[in-house]
Amino acid sequence: MSAVKKEIRKITTHVLRAMKEKGVKISMLTAYDFSFARILDDAGVDVVLVGDSASNVVHGHETTLPITLEQMIDHASAVVRAVKRALVIVDLPFGYYQGDSKNALKSAIRIMKESGAHGIKMEGGEFIAQSVHRIVSAGIPVMGHLGLMPQSIYKYGTYAVRAREEDEAQQLLDDAHSLEKAGSFALVLEKIPRELATRISSELSIPTIGIGAGGGCDGQVLVTHDMLGLNNEFSPRFLRRYANLYDVIREAVAHYIEDVKSHDFPNEDEAY
Ligand code: KIV
Repeated sequence: MSAVKKEIRKITTHVLRAMKEKGVKISMLTAYDFSFARILDDAGVDVVLVGDSASNVVHGHETTLPITLEQMIDHASAVVRAVKRALVIVDLPFGYYQGDSKNALKSAIRIMKESGAHGIKMEGGEFIAQSVHRIVSAGIPVMGHLGLMPQSIYKYGTYAVRAREEDEAQQLLDDAHSLEKAGSFALVLEKIPRELATRISSELSIPTIGIGAGGGCDGQVLVTHDMLGLNNEFSPRFLRRYANLYDVIREAVAHYIEDVKSHDFPNEDEAY
Protein backbone atom coordinates (compact mmCIF):
# COMPACT_ATOMS: atom_id res chain seq x y z
CA MET A 1 0.00 0.00 0.00
CA SER A 2 1.51 3.32 -0.99
CA ALA A 3 1.61 6.16 1.47
CA VAL A 4 -0.57 9.11 0.50
CA LYS A 5 1.64 12.15 0.11
CA LYS A 6 0.07 15.37 1.31
CA GLU A 7 0.53 17.96 -1.44
CA ILE A 8 1.73 21.32 -0.13
CA ARG A 9 0.62 24.21 -2.30
CA LYS A 10 3.53 26.59 -2.07
CA ILE A 11 2.77 30.28 -1.93
CA THR A 12 4.31 32.25 -4.78
CA THR A 13 4.01 35.88 -5.84
CA HIS A 14 1.46 34.69 -8.45
CA VAL A 15 -0.64 33.01 -5.75
CA LEU A 16 -0.70 36.30 -3.81
CA ARG A 17 -1.84 38.17 -6.90
CA ALA A 18 -4.61 35.61 -7.44
CA MET A 19 -5.63 35.96 -3.79
CA LYS A 20 -6.08 39.70 -4.30
CA GLU A 21 -8.15 39.08 -7.44
CA LYS A 22 -10.39 36.63 -5.56
CA GLY A 23 -10.66 38.85 -2.48
CA VAL A 24 -8.86 36.34 -0.24
CA LYS A 25 -6.91 38.22 2.45
CA ILE A 26 -3.16 37.62 2.76
CA SER A 27 -1.58 36.92 6.17
CA MET A 28 2.03 37.89 6.82
CA LEU A 29 4.08 37.65 10.05
CA THR A 30 7.74 38.17 10.88
CA ALA A 31 10.21 35.44 11.86
CA TYR A 32 13.92 35.55 12.44
CA ASP A 33 14.79 31.97 13.43
CA PHE A 34 14.06 28.31 12.67
CA SER A 35 11.72 27.55 15.59
CA PHE A 36 9.35 30.47 15.12
CA ALA A 37 9.35 30.10 11.33
CA ARG A 38 8.35 26.44 11.65
CA ILE A 39 5.37 27.28 13.89
CA LEU A 40 4.21 30.12 11.63
CA ASP A 41 4.44 27.95 8.52
CA ASP A 42 2.73 25.03 10.23
CA ALA A 43 -0.12 27.35 11.27
CA GLY A 44 -0.56 28.33 7.62
CA VAL A 45 0.69 31.90 7.36
CA ASP A 46 1.01 32.95 3.70
CA VAL A 47 4.15 35.10 3.89
CA VAL A 48 6.99 34.96 6.41
CA LEU A 49 8.83 38.26 6.55
CA VAL A 50 12.40 38.23 7.83
CA GLY A 51 12.02 41.87 8.83
CA ASP A 52 14.80 44.21 9.80
CA SER A 53 12.69 44.59 12.97
CA ALA A 54 15.10 41.81 14.04
CA SER A 55 17.35 44.75 14.85
CA ASN A 56 14.89 45.73 17.63
CA VAL A 57 13.30 42.52 18.83
CA VAL A 58 16.26 40.14 18.49
CA HIS A 59 19.33 42.35 18.80
CA GLY A 60 17.91 44.96 21.19
CA HIS A 61 18.76 48.04 19.13
CA GLU A 62 16.57 51.12 19.40
CA THR A 63 16.12 51.36 15.62
CA THR A 64 16.34 49.13 12.54
CA LEU A 65 19.41 50.97 11.25
CA PRO A 66 22.27 48.97 12.83
CA ILE A 67 21.43 45.49 11.50
CA THR A 68 23.83 44.28 8.81
CA LEU A 69 23.33 42.37 5.58
CA GLU A 70 25.25 39.43 7.04
CA GLN A 71 22.95 39.30 10.08
CA MET A 72 19.86 39.42 7.83
CA ILE A 73 21.28 36.58 5.71
CA ASP A 74 21.86 34.54 8.87
CA HIS A 75 18.28 35.07 10.11
CA ALA A 76 16.86 34.38 6.64
CA SER A 77 18.84 31.13 6.19
CA ALA A 78 17.42 29.75 9.45
CA VAL A 79 13.88 30.74 8.44
CA VAL A 80 14.19 29.22 4.96
CA ARG A 81 15.32 25.90 6.50
CA ALA A 82 12.04 25.75 8.47
CA VAL A 83 9.49 26.86 5.88
CA LYS A 84 7.74 24.40 3.57
CA ARG A 85 4.76 26.40 2.26
CA ALA A 86 4.98 30.14 2.89
CA LEU A 87 6.71 32.73 0.72
CA VAL A 88 9.84 33.98 2.51
CA ILE A 89 10.66 37.66 2.00
CA VAL A 90 13.71 39.38 3.49
CA ASP A 91 14.24 43.07 4.25
CA LEU A 92 17.22 44.72 2.56
CA PRO A 93 18.78 46.47 5.56
CA PHE A 94 19.62 50.16 5.80
CA GLY A 95 22.78 51.18 3.95
CA TYR A 96 22.85 48.30 1.47
CA TYR A 97 20.63 49.69 -1.31
CA GLN A 98 20.14 53.44 -0.99
CA GLY A 99 23.40 54.33 -2.81
CA ASP A 100 22.71 53.19 -6.36
CA SER A 101 20.88 50.44 -8.22
CA LYS A 102 24.07 48.42 -8.79
CA ASN A 103 24.71 48.31 -5.05
CA ALA A 104 21.06 47.41 -4.43
CA LEU A 105 21.17 44.54 -6.93
CA LYS A 106 24.38 43.21 -5.39
CA SER A 107 22.77 43.15 -1.90
CA ALA A 108 19.59 41.51 -3.21
CA ILE A 109 21.60 38.82 -5.01
CA ARG A 110 23.58 38.08 -1.82
CA ILE A 111 20.35 37.56 0.14
CA MET A 112 18.84 35.27 -2.51
CA LYS A 113 22.02 33.26 -3.09
CA GLU A 114 23.19 32.91 0.52
CA SER A 115 19.84 32.42 2.30
CA GLY A 116 17.62 30.72 -0.27
CA ALA A 117 14.80 33.23 0.35
CA HIS A 118 12.12 33.89 -2.28
CA GLY A 119 12.27 37.69 -2.53
CA ILE A 120 13.27 40.92 -0.85
CA LYS A 121 11.57 44.01 0.60
CA MET A 122 12.79 47.60 0.33
CA GLU A 123 11.59 50.85 1.90
CA GLY A 124 11.04 53.89 -0.33
CA GLY A 125 9.12 55.27 -3.29
CA GLU A 126 10.09 56.86 -6.59
CA PHE A 127 13.71 57.30 -5.55
CA ILE A 128 14.24 53.52 -5.37
CA ALA A 129 12.14 52.70 -8.47
CA GLN A 130 15.25 52.31 -10.65
CA SER A 131 16.74 49.83 -8.16
CA VAL A 132 13.44 47.92 -7.97
CA HIS A 133 13.36 47.67 -11.77
CA ARG A 134 16.97 46.44 -11.90
CA ILE A 135 16.44 43.82 -9.16
CA VAL A 136 13.17 42.58 -10.69
CA SER A 137 14.88 42.41 -14.11
CA ALA A 138 17.44 40.08 -12.54
CA GLY A 139 14.59 37.75 -11.56
CA ILE A 140 14.23 38.73 -7.90
CA PRO A 141 10.72 39.52 -6.59
CA VAL A 142 10.55 42.86 -4.75
CA MET A 143 8.01 43.91 -2.13
CA GLY A 144 7.78 47.69 -1.61
CA HIS A 145 7.24 49.46 1.72
CA LEU A 146 5.66 52.94 2.03
CA GLY A 147 4.16 55.13 4.76
CA LEU A 148 6.05 54.88 8.02
CA MET A 149 9.50 53.72 6.94
CA PRO A 150 11.50 52.88 10.09
CA GLN A 151 14.84 53.09 8.22
CA SER A 152 14.11 56.83 7.74
CA ILE A 153 13.23 57.50 11.37
CA TYR A 154 15.88 60.21 11.75
CA LYS A 155 14.49 62.05 8.71
CA TYR A 156 10.92 62.08 10.12
CA GLY A 157 11.84 62.24 13.82
CA THR A 158 8.75 60.29 14.96
CA TYR A 159 6.90 56.98 14.54
CA ALA A 160 3.57 58.84 14.20
CA VAL A 161 0.98 58.15 11.46
CA ARG A 162 2.25 59.26 8.03
CA ALA A 163 0.49 60.99 5.12
CA ARG A 164 -2.30 62.71 7.05
CA GLU A 165 -1.68 65.87 4.99
CA GLU A 166 -2.85 66.12 1.37
CA ASP A 167 0.60 66.67 -0.20
CA GLU A 168 2.21 63.72 1.58
CA ALA A 169 -0.81 61.54 0.73
CA GLN A 170 -0.50 62.50 -2.97
CA GLN A 171 3.25 61.74 -2.90
CA LEU A 172 2.55 58.34 -1.32
CA LEU A 173 -0.05 57.56 -4.00
CA ASP A 174 2.46 58.50 -6.74
CA ASP A 175 5.16 56.40 -5.02
CA ALA A 176 2.81 53.41 -4.88
CA HIS A 177 2.13 53.67 -8.62
CA SER A 178 5.82 54.03 -9.46
CA LEU A 179 6.69 50.92 -7.39
CA GLU A 180 4.02 48.94 -9.22
CA LYS A 181 5.32 50.25 -12.57
CA ALA A 182 8.90 49.32 -11.59
CA GLY A 183 7.76 45.71 -11.10
CA SER A 184 7.10 45.27 -7.35
CA PHE A 185 4.86 42.26 -6.69
CA ALA A 186 3.33 43.62 -3.46
CA LEU A 187 3.44 46.66 -1.22
CA VAL A 188 3.54 47.09 2.57
CA LEU A 189 1.63 50.16 3.78
CA GLU A 190 2.64 51.10 7.32
CA LYS A 191 0.73 53.45 9.63
CA ILE A 192 -1.24 55.56 7.18
CA PRO A 193 -4.91 56.65 7.24
CA ARG A 194 -7.26 53.80 6.27
CA GLU A 195 -8.96 55.83 3.48
CA LEU A 196 -5.62 56.36 1.75
CA ALA A 197 -4.63 52.68 2.14
CA THR A 198 -8.02 51.60 0.76
CA ARG A 199 -7.66 53.93 -2.22
CA ILE A 200 -4.14 52.64 -3.00
CA SER A 201 -5.36 49.05 -2.66
CA SER A 202 -8.15 49.63 -5.17
CA GLU A 203 -5.97 51.54 -7.66
CA LEU A 204 -3.10 49.02 -7.71
CA SER A 205 -3.34 45.56 -9.19
CA ILE A 206 -0.58 44.24 -6.91
CA PRO A 207 -1.59 43.27 -3.35
CA THR A 208 -1.15 45.72 -0.48
CA ILE A 209 -0.28 44.43 2.99
CA GLY A 210 -1.10 46.79 5.81
CA ILE A 211 0.23 47.38 9.30
CA GLY A 212 -1.75 50.11 11.03
CA ALA A 213 -3.37 50.93 7.67
CA GLY A 214 -6.90 49.58 8.24
CA GLY A 215 -8.96 46.75 6.83
CA GLY A 216 -9.05 47.97 3.20
CA CYS A 217 -5.64 46.45 2.43
CA ASP A 218 -5.37 43.09 0.65
CA GLY A 219 -3.52 41.58 3.60
CA GLN A 220 -2.16 42.30 7.06
CA VAL A 221 1.25 42.01 8.71
CA LEU A 222 2.32 42.21 12.36
CA VAL A 223 5.63 41.71 14.12
CA THR A 224 5.24 38.25 15.67
CA HIS A 225 6.95 39.21 18.94
CA ASP A 226 4.41 42.04 19.36
CA MET A 227 1.26 40.03 18.51
CA LEU A 228 2.35 37.22 20.84
CA GLY A 229 2.97 39.64 23.70
CA LEU A 230 6.68 38.86 24.04
CA ASN A 231 7.27 42.56 24.30
CA ASN A 232 4.95 44.29 26.76
CA GLU A 233 6.33 47.79 26.27
CA PHE A 234 5.08 48.33 22.72
CA SER A 235 1.33 49.03 22.53
CA PRO A 236 0.34 50.99 19.42
CA ARG A 237 -3.37 51.25 18.61
CA PHE A 238 -3.09 48.96 15.57
CA LEU A 239 -1.60 46.05 17.54
CA ARG A 240 -3.91 43.17 18.48
CA ARG A 241 -2.27 40.88 21.08
CA TYR A 242 -3.14 37.21 20.54
CA ALA A 243 -1.19 35.92 23.56
CA ASN A 244 0.79 37.14 26.51
CA LEU A 245 3.91 35.03 26.12
CA TYR A 246 6.02 37.34 28.25
CA ASP A 247 4.06 36.29 31.35
CA VAL A 248 3.73 32.65 30.23
CA ILE A 249 7.50 32.31 29.74
CA ARG A 250 8.38 34.26 32.87
CA GLU A 251 6.11 32.04 34.99
CA ALA A 252 7.51 28.85 33.46
CA VAL A 253 11.09 30.00 34.08
CA ALA A 254 10.30 31.02 37.67
CA HIS A 255 8.70 27.60 38.23
CA TYR A 256 11.80 25.84 36.83
CA ILE A 257 14.12 27.86 39.06
CA GLU A 258 11.98 26.98 42.08
CA ASP A 259 12.04 23.25 41.20
CA VAL A 260 15.83 23.25 40.79
CA LYS A 261 16.43 25.11 44.05
CA SER A 262 14.02 22.88 45.98
CA HIS A 263 15.65 19.66 44.64
CA ASP A 264 12.33 18.75 42.98
CA PHE A 265 13.86 18.66 39.48
CA PRO A 266 15.00 16.23 38.25
CA ASN A 267 13.04 13.43 39.94
CA GLU A 268 13.59 9.64 39.70
CA ASP A 269 11.72 9.38 36.36
CA GLU A 270 13.72 12.18 34.84
CA ALA A 271 17.10 10.54 35.47
CA TYR A 272 18.95 7.60 33.82
O1 KIV B 1 10.76 44.86 9.66
C1 KIV B 1 9.56 44.58 9.79
O2 KIV B 1 9.16 43.80 10.66
C2 KIV B 1 8.61 45.21 8.87
C3 KIV B 1 7.15 45.01 9.12
C4 KIV B 1 6.72 45.82 10.27
C5 KIV B 1 6.35 45.29 7.93
O3 KIV B 1 9.01 45.86 7.95
